[in-house]
Amino acid sequence: MADDVQDQADESAESSEATIAVHWREEGYYPPPPKFIGQANASDPAILDRFAEENFPECFREYADLLHWDKYWDTTLDTSNPPFWRWFVGGKLNASYNCVDRHLAEDRNKAALIWVAEPEDEADVVVTYQELYRRVNEFAAVLRDLGLQAGDRVTLHMPMVPELPVTMLACARLGVVHSQVFAGFSGGACGGRIADSGSKILITMDGYYRSGDLLDHKVKADEAVEAARKEGQEVEKVLVWRRYAGQYSAKTPMVEGRDVFVDELLAEHQGAVVEPVSLDATAPLFLMYTSGTTGRPKGCQHSTGGYLSYVAGTSKFYQDIHPDDTYWCMADIGWITGHSYIVYGPLALGTTTVLYEGTPNYPDAGRPWRIAERLGVNIFHTSPTAIRMLRKVGPDEPAKYNYHFKAMTTVGEPIEPEVYRWYFNKVGKGEAIITDTWWQTETGGFIGTGLPALFAMKPGSCGPAALGIYLDILDENGESIPKGSGKAGNIVARAPWPGIFQTIWGQPDRFVSTYFAKYNKDPDSTDWHDWPYFAGDGAVQAEDGYFRILGRVDDVINVAGHRLGTKELESSALSVEEVAEAAAVPVIDDVRGRAVEMYIALKPGYADAGPEVENKVKQAIERDIGKIARPKNIWIVPDMPKTRSGKIMRRVIAATSNFADVGDITTLANPEVVEQIRHWCRTPSTPRARCRAS
Ligand code: WTA
Repeated sequence: MADDVQDQADESAESSEATIAVHWREEGYYPPPPKFIGQANASDPAILDRFAEENFPECFREYADLLHWDKYWDTTLDTSNPPFWRWFVGGKLNASYNCVDRHLAEDRNKAALIWVAEPEDEADVVVTYQELYRRVNEFAAVLRDLGLQAGDRVTLHMPMVPELPVTMLACARLGVVHSQVFAGFSGGACGGRIADSGSKILITMDGYYRSGDLLDHKVKADEAVEAARKEGQEVEKVLVWRRYAGQYSAKTPMVEGRDVFVDELLAEHQGAVVEPVSLDATAPLFLMYTSGTTGRPKGCQHSTGGYLSYVAGTSKFYQDIHPDDTYWCMADIGWITGHSYIVYGPLALGTTTVLYEGTPNYPDAGRPWRIAERLGVNIFHTSPTAIRMLRKVGPDEPAKYNYHFKAMTTVGEPIEPEVYRWYFNKVGKGEAIITDTWWQTETGGFIGTGLPALFAMKPGSCGPAALGIYLDILDENGESIPKGSGKAGNIVARAPWPGIFQTIWGQPDRFVSTYFAKYNKDPDSTDWHDWPYFAGDGAVQAEDGYFRILGRVDDVINVAGHRLGTKELESSALSVEEVAEAAAVPVIDDVRGRAVEMYIALKPGYADAGPEVENKVKQAIERDIGKIARPKNIWIVPDMPKTRSGKIMRRVIAATSNFADVGDITTLANPEVVEQIRHWCRTPSTPRARCRAS
């Protein structure tokens, strides 16, 4: 009992991090250039009135009207089963039709995709809308002949190649729910997602280029199938696209009866046309897995009508995409950013979207700017991590290339004002607006960001709430924290929006408890006002109404803009024989924003184990999750700071890692260990292996 009370006290101490006072200085504004305003899609402030709260939810008709509907909807927002909101109920449409077929009449010979291979001597692949139509139809015919139907799930584990959007759109044509796993994730991580989604088919590629190497990617498919089998899911077919036509780029053998080359299947379906299936607006379009506070990843399920409307609308108004733009988002399609703002948003608007296979600084830091110059890119979208990296390795590179952006976006993490200024002055050459977009895998599209022609930019702030989104900052008791108070709290969206995910695949209770339970006072209420969406981010709102996002308030570490669950990292570390306990914490990193630091305690009898344990832990994490999660440091410590009920206090450890004040630790079961850890881990001369049992 006493321990329970103690636990609660510890928990409130943890969450109170979100309510700390915020002290940074206010940044100045950058007004949008008149040239930008003159051509912007949203330059008339009347749009703000159209999306004012009194016009909710009908205001979102403006987004839905950007699409072709086979049948118009009858109910814009159905709240009868909260918080499982249903948008555009009664409406029917097909996402593949909207992103491909409907552009043929006017734009069949316009480039839909321009793919840039990493090797600089390889030619671009330009896929016109007509060619995209052909490829999507033929691959849809392949999938159909494998017996796939609307509602089935397939897992994709594909790199950044034109075959990835083709695969997604072919699935969408049939109503098959795609679940693309980031290619950099390990086979094991992919297998877990195959099992969770119940996919019988895995679609992958033999190899791809990354930092100059042609990687064997097929090997991960074998690992994935094995990992899925362990969780009870049998993969019947592995479809393998080939990086080079007619030639196999992997060393891993194909498995007889299970693995098939896609080009061989396509040869049997040349010229096939598959009618797009007319789907309910509420039919699921795809799953996108993300990390949460437990080891089991969350398959965020996005809808066809609501999601597609939302990404089309936000691409148009926030990225200012016009049909004749050349738009380049340097993210990976394996993340939500790529789904919404490389594939679905830009293609729904009929623009030209650029895909790049490789790393931004390969072979040198001028690569992105050479691509921009050569292709005439005029809208550029990337993350603070990439900007920090390019600034570090090539601060003067952008000036050497003759490209001109009108608009730039940033997403994924807070951007430091210094980094923002380099982005504005050097990358944007002082001519381009920057839209800082705050959102999440769950939200489908931008939800905190300013309309670029109507709101001045302010470094470090994402800006106000997006159109039709009503953001607020709440304290632990659900009271709204007034703007300009300098106090931070939990950012919430008070009302639903069309892009919000529908549920967590197979875990509806977790959907409710993670995102809505915190601020819902009446579980029976069918009034959306009673269901604020809890995003899990701390934020502060300045006097001018602009939001500044401070970062996660849960056990999720945002590395280079990608969310990693501490539990996933820790359970991977615990798979190493010698490890008794593990705690993953975020540490500040000048390029990635945050990196993972791992604290481990060894089992009795292994006290002398040294650097080899560190290597084993690193390998385990690469195997289970992927290189992106590799810890920056691994500290072997005698014990972890714990509550009296035995809960590891990551907050205390994180403070130690970041040289911050650890706060009140008198309630811990073992406060003395904090001092020991601090002493060892902060002494630069301490060899790693000594940072352990005394
Ligand atoms: C963080 C990425 C500050 C935030 C689209 C959020 C940001 C998490 C921003 C979602 C931004 C995203 N400023 N922080 N502009 N954008 N974040 O699901 O902590 O990979 O909760 O979606 O990234 O990451 P996710």
